[in-house]
Amino acid sequence: MASGLFATKDLRALMSETEEGGHSLKKSVGAVGLTAMGVGAIIGTGIFVVIGEGADKAGPAVTLSFVLAALTCAFSALSYAELAAAVPISGSAYTFAYATLGELVAFIIGWDLILEYGVSVAGIAVGWGGNFNSFLDSVFGVSLPTAISSPPEDGGVVNVPAVVITLLVTLLLVRGTRESATVNLIMVGVKIVVLLFFIVVAFTHFKSGNLKPFNPEGSSGITAAAGVIFFAYIGFDAVSTASEESKRPARDLPIAIIGSLLISTLFYVAVALGATGLVPYKNLAGSEAPLADALKQAAGLDWAAGVLSLGALIAITSVLLVILYGQTRIFFAMCRDGLMPKSLATVSPRFGTPAKLTLIFGVLVAVLSAFVPLSEIVKLVNIGTLFAFVLVNIGVIVLRRTRPDMERPFKTPLVPVFPIIGCLLCFYLMKDLPGTTWIRFVVWLVIGLAIYFLYSRKHSRLQTGQDAEYIEKHPETQTREG
Ligand code: ALA
Repeated sequence: MASGLFATKDLRALMSETEEGGHSLKKSVGAVGLTAMGVGAIIGTGIFVVIGEGADKAGPAVTLSFVLAALTCAFSALSYAELAAAVPISGSAYTFAYATLGELVAFIIGWDLILEYGVSVAGIAVGWGGNFNSFLDSVFGVSLPTAISSPPEDGGVVNVPAVVITLLVTLLLVRGTRESATVNLIMVGVKIVVLLFFIVVAFTHFKSGNLKPFNPEGSSGITAAAGVIFFAYIGFDAVSTASEESKRPARDLPIAIIGSLLISTLFYVAVALGATGLVPYKNLAGSEAPLADALKQAAGLDWAAGVLSLGALIAITSVLLVILYGQTRIFFAMCRDGLMPKSLATVSPRFGTPAKLTLIFGVLVAVLSAFVPLSEIVKLVNIGTLFAFVLVNIGVIVLRRTRPDMERPFKTPLVPVFPIIGCLLCFYLMKDLPGTTWIRFVVWLVIGLAIYFLYSRKHSRLQTGQDAEYIEKHPETQTREG
């Protein structure tokens, strides 16, 4: 707990600060709500849009890419489950890192998660806009002019649908977690029905000839595609950003993290196999709405494409909802710890949510979504997330050694073997991402480090001795740690 770059946050301080006046969140979400939150965050742009690029890289073997990416996530999900249950505090990997690897690493991971959550929301909203247009086209035969429905890089001026959906989701989140969870539950139900619908239609029109050749690019194609469609799995970690609002975090968080990943994997494998059997894989590549297009191309299924694009819209809305929620909670934790301006970490007395922060991020993301295309963002978000997973896996190993007696309601099996496999799989997928993605990621980290050394370090509760003071003033917190 000494001050310095590698000072770790005391778990007692972490747990207690969440209960300080004005900084605590309402406990209102149960296991079903949390699992739905996971599925809500996971199934979206990845399966409805990014699958096209995956098929382009791997051919029909993109199904195996989905399995490889799921395996990568599975090991990290176990680590997330262990830490989320042991440190049930808003902030996800950021908070875990603070308790285990020290302030500098925590800051880096928090900064990294802004990339995964905040920046990805802008891209996802752009994807929503594209699907909105595709829906208008298949159902009403009209579409919005490119100027107001695409970012400059795609030949437009501003993406109005992306801005509108981002602001609507922001307002919903400001109103409250319980309301958001209910709306999310409905959207998750709809997306599951729509994917089941796709699977049934695809398998009834399945042509096994489309699967030949099954693996045209060899194993390197499978890995490269996995590095891209990994995006489809991002979100199970969002569950751990809701720890503080969970009623029984120790039991419910592991169920939700692992359960939502499992449900999504089953759907993805079935959808990928169905899609590549429905049309030749090359037809999926380069499309803004590959699944809907696949249904259109297969004779007489235009109506099904309309249903599917509506489902995609709803699915992506729920992704936006949960990921933006996650972003506000991670940043909330960083502000509360003094690494970002503390005045932002207030809970609105009217709504019981961090309304100020939610509005700030909502507006920033809306502005980004007006001008940013999805394509490159996917890879940048993936590299950032894989890096976060590596740190979480390391965190589990470190914490088992440094705090062997800490209460762990859920334990990852075979530590350190499982977390090490988790790290290796993450690096395996990262290594195939393009050099430009690596450069952007490094630039992002350098900007973060500058902020850390110029601002955060000087204002940190831990560095300025406020944590130690707090524990001294509240001796009852001494019993918190096992
Ligand atoms: N996994 C989320 C999606 O596919 C980010 O949209």
